[in-house]
Amino acid sequence: MSIIIDGKAIAAEMRKEIKAEVERFVSDKGRKITLAVVLVGENPASQIYVRNKIKACEEVGISSKAIYLGADVTQSELELNIKNLADDKSVDGILVQLPLPEQIDEKSILKLIPTAKDVDGFSEENIGKLCMNEDCLVACTPNGVMRMLEAYDVEIKGKRAVVVGRSDIVGKPMAMLLLNADATVTVCHSKTTNLKEECKNADILVCAIGKPKFIGADMVKDGAVVVDVGINRDENGKLCGDVDFESVHKKCAYITPVPGGVGPMTITMLMYNTLKAASRR
Ligand code: GUN
Repeated sequence: MSIIIDGKAIAAEMRKEIKAEVERFVSDKGRKITLAVVLVGENPASQIYVRNKIKACEEVGISSKAIYLGADVTQSELELNIKNLADDKSVDGILVQLPLPEQIDEKSILKLIPTAKDVDGFSEENIGKLCMNEDCLVACTPNGVMRMLEAYDVEIKGKRAVVVGRSDIVGKPMAMLLLNADATVTVCHSKTTNLKEECKNADILVCAIGKPKFIGADMVKDGAVVVDVGINRDENGKLCGDVDFESVHKKCAYITPVPGGVGPMTITMLMYNTLKAASRR
């Protein structure tokens, strides 16, 4: 039987610390901290994420500036909105919720977010610094995973880590963070030929593929640490991860549940990054 990593509890503890630091910042600097959140269109999942991000801001005392734009927004309208936020001295962080509608060139929108306000850690400079193991704003989900492993004293140095998924948001920065922490890292993806064997070799297995219950017990080494980044719906519409929790948790040493695992950490790291962005200005 494995130890269930309680992301909700770690997140709650961190939010208390962040709240205290935000209060200190506000009283020292005499100004509030502001996160701008841009939501385009009516994607239901994005609406929930944005609502939760705004709620988290309230919880830690960060002020939020929500900008809602219609799904038919043009590239130039959206660019103008981002440029205004980039120039706005009262805004410390900018988050553009992804995905953006088809008519929008996502990359060129993200490039308009100044590195100093890039609380998602998506900019070329932040990614470059992460690769060079320098201080920077790190993508929230993978950074949250590192905090969870730290909170449970999971040793990373010298371990075999396998990351399943190579997205710019999770898989790639996750691999880099594990590498920076001295793991031997393999990144698997949809074209990997021997996925099961690769996964079975992992001391630390991070799953970020977006397929409900895809990783079964037959793909997991005895005593592994299993981190589930997936947020999916199963055949009954119930929230589930990329890992088949029921079978895998009997075999591994540590596992993150869905919900209550990585999810609460992602938003907490966004609050952390916003405080960091404000403190560095
Ligand atoms: N959509 C899904 N995850 C994320 C994220 O971490 N940041 C942004 N901006 N959009 C997302």
